[in-house]
Amino acid sequence: MTYTTPVPITDGHFYAGSSLELRDLTMAYGEIEVLREVSLEVEPGTTTCIIGPSGSGKSTLLRGVNRLHEPKSGDVLLAGESVLTQKPDAVRKRIGLVFQHFNLFPDHTALENVALAVRHVKGLSKAESRRIAEARLEEVGLAERADHRPRDLSGGQQQRVAIARALAMEPEVMLFDEATSALDPELVKGVLNLMAQLAQRGMTMLVVTHEMGFARKVADQVVFMDEGRVVEAGAPADLFEHPKSPRLQRFLSEVL
Ligand SMILES: Nc1ncnc2c1ncn2[C@@H]1O[C@H](COP(=O)(O)OP(=O)(O)OP(=O)(O)O)[C@@H](O)[C@H]1O
Ligand SMILES: [Mg+2]
Repeated sequence: MTYTTPVPITDGHFYAGSSLELRDLTMAYGEIEVLREVSLEVEPGTTTCIIGPSGSGKSTLLRGVNRLHEPKSGDVLLAGESVLTQKPDAVRKRIGLVFQHFNLFPDHTALENVALAVRHVKGLSKAESRRIAEARLEEVGLAERADHRPRDLSGGQQQRVAIARALAMEPEVMLFDEATSALDPELVKGVLNLMAQLAQRGMTMLVVTHEMGFARKVADQVVFMDEGRVVEAGAPADLFEHPKSPRLQRFLSEVL
């Protein structure tokens, strides 16, 4: 699979991705620690893919980064500033999150879904919110489908609306949690292509994925997690061609 077939994109829009750093991030549910002293540096405008077995703490890590779940200890720095000292709402404006399930309003069109979010979060006028929504939908290749409701869009198109909605907030970092795993196989590629395009255009991205082809081709850095820890991290070619730890070797032999 290649990730170069772009969906139609307007002008030369570039994103102003910020750096992201995790310092000894430890997270727990009650007494049970599920993330242990995870440290990670993501340079501005680069893509880091997180891979690892089920239950290894990948989603929990993302939830810590945008404060959907409060870390137990450690820190998360966005553009060098701790997100823990900022209001969670303020952090979520700066760090977009795209999940497996898109959570669009079923009774609103694609355009309205994006515009309503812009209006709600940014407090802009109706007209200005619509203008931004139109531009973002065009960016994800959905200008023609803007007036359709979610049920009249494919799963892949719905996910692209969700990505447009996240982009409309002008985030400095985008987090993706298995954004393609609920999609029919033939729809996966369109969404991965879009994600690859955001990467090329300077967004800082932290991507939890089972798509090893995507990680190999698009990531600047791949992080392999197991049991709440980073086991191995590095350039995709190193990790995929020369895994050092037996745990990663076994994981790759199971998924590739
Ligand atoms: N809300 C919660 N309450 C208690 N434990 C949880 C909660 N969410 C996750 N866990 C546990 O935390 C650990 C890490 O879960 P997490 O969802 O981060 O894993 P994951 O790597 O994203 O897995 P998957 O690939 O299946 O999505 C698991 O043992 C899980 O059972
Ligand atoms: Mg998960």
